[in-house]
Parts: sequence; structure tokens; C-alpha cells
Amino acid sequence: MDSDKGRLTRDGIRIYEPSDHAGMHVAGKVAATILDDIAPHVFPGQTTAEIDRLITEMVTAHGSTSATIGYKGYEHASCISVNHVVCHGIPGEKMLKDGDILNIDVTVIVDGWFGDTSRMYVAGKLSRKAERLIQVTHDSLMKGIEAARPGNTFGDIGAAIQSYVESHRMSVVRDFCGHGLGRVFHAPPNVLHYGRPGTGPVLEEGMFFTIEPMVNLGRPETKVLADDWTAVTRDKSLSAQFEHSIGITAGGADIFTLSPAGKFHPTY
Ligand code: MF3
Ligand code: CO
Ligand code: CO
Repeated sequence: MDSDKGRLTRDGIRIYEPSDHAGMHVAGKVAATILDDIAPHVFPGQTTAEIDRLITEMVTAHGSTSATIGYKGYEHASCISVNHVVCHGIPGEKMLKDGDILNIDVTVIVDGWFGDTSRMYVAGKLSRKAERLIQVTHDSLMKGIEAARPGNTFGDIGAAIQSYVESHRMSVVRDFCGHGLGRVFHAPPNVLHYGRPGTGPVLEEGMFFTIEPMVNLGRPETKVLADDWTAVTRDKSLSAQFEHSIGITAGGADIFTLSPAGKFHPTY
């Protein structure tokens, strides 16, 4: 129906057209390809600044634009969050050490559409406990995506993630959430990674949003450092995150940021 074009739900969530999936797939694929291609550049001795420099080049090489450079004063094409950094780690000159785990988060704009995705990498040898954390975090995202279908609620997504994570005696970060996106970077709703089944807005076909659970080995509390960006676990425990951008269809979730190389997890 024409009058439905660009419709917002009562919760302020935009309903996109079926034809809008094409633009999201293009943007999502560029972001995912960059995450594929950066994998060989993660190793002990490498700096996160160099990784970000390579990502900046790749963003340009794809004819895309970085959504994060200039966003609220952020100056980089990626967030790189090492070990106990939960999210929004700022690339810098510190070298990666053997066994460090890191999330690399990239958001690009192609033809006005936003593709936002992140995954975990390791420099050198992966420890058993980090491997467990990364596996549970990845699988919790997939549990959330499985719950993302018309008629379910956002609370169902959060509950699926939280119950899975807590069944493995890990904790879900409460202080950061996923978000609507599409022709904008961050839009309603806040996609919580915890919650109660049947609560929150009902999912409808045409909703586009991210799911991006952050999972800690220790307690869920975080704090933001004096740089006003870097979020860390208060108890210094290891943290991991994976992120996909998805669209809701009649059949469930259409994942815009699948890895063309099949590397989403493991990336290494
Ligand atoms: N990509 C992040 C997200 O998943 C946002 C990063 S904003 C930045 O929403 F400014 F820190 F880059
Ligand atoms: Co996001
Ligand atoms: Co992101």
C-alpha cells in the first residue's frame, strides 16, 4: 500500500520495503568482505592503528564511506576492542601480544545504506578459555537471530541470548545494545541482549536492525575510560562480541552481513 511507504510503528521503528533489502545486502557485503580481508593482518606485533589504516584503505577501495569517521567525533574506520575492552576500542600504536583476542567492528555506507558488522580475531595462539568465550558469544548471536521472526518480540531475542550465555556461566553486557539501522546508522529500537520472552515491540517484516551481544567471562558491569569511548569490563575479565545487520522477512531473518568467504566464525 502506498500510504504504508516509510511507515513507522508506534514504537518509532521504520518499516522498509522488500526492495530495500538489495541496498542493505550490498552495504553488508562490503563490511563483511573487509572483515574477511583483514584476518591475515592480525598477528602478534601488529598495531591496531595499522589494522585500522588497512581498513580505511579497504573502505575506499570498495567505493564505500566509513560511517564511523566523524561520527560523534570518532576519528577511525573501525573500533578494535582487545581482551577486556567490551566495545568502542580506539585503534592505537600498542602492539598485539600472543594470545590477545580482539573484536573488529566496521560500518560502511554504500548508496546511503549502512552495513554494520563485527567479529572476533586472535593474535597468535588462542587460549582455551578465550576460545570458549568466543564460541558462546558467536552462538548467542545466532540464537538471537533464530528468534528474529515476525510475531516474536524483541524481548524474545534478548531472552534467547541471555539464557544461552548464562547457561554457560558467562554474563551479558547491559550497558550497550543493538540498534535499528538502514538509511541511518542508529535508529529505534534499542535491541537489548537480555530480557523476558514476550516483552517489547513485536517484530514485523521490513524491520532492519543489528544484534551485537557483548559477553563477559566475569561480571556484566562496564565502565568507559577517560577517552570517552573505550568501554571495559569493571572486573577486567575478558569480553567478546559478534554483530550482524539483519532484516525481518516472512520467513525469519535475512542476514545482510554474512561472510562471503564463510569466515564469520572462526575468523582465524
Ligand atoms: N559499529 C558500532 C555499532 O555497532 C558503533 C561504533 S560508533 C563509533 O553500533 F563511533 F565508535 F565508531
Ligand atoms: Co551496531
Ligand atoms: Co558495529
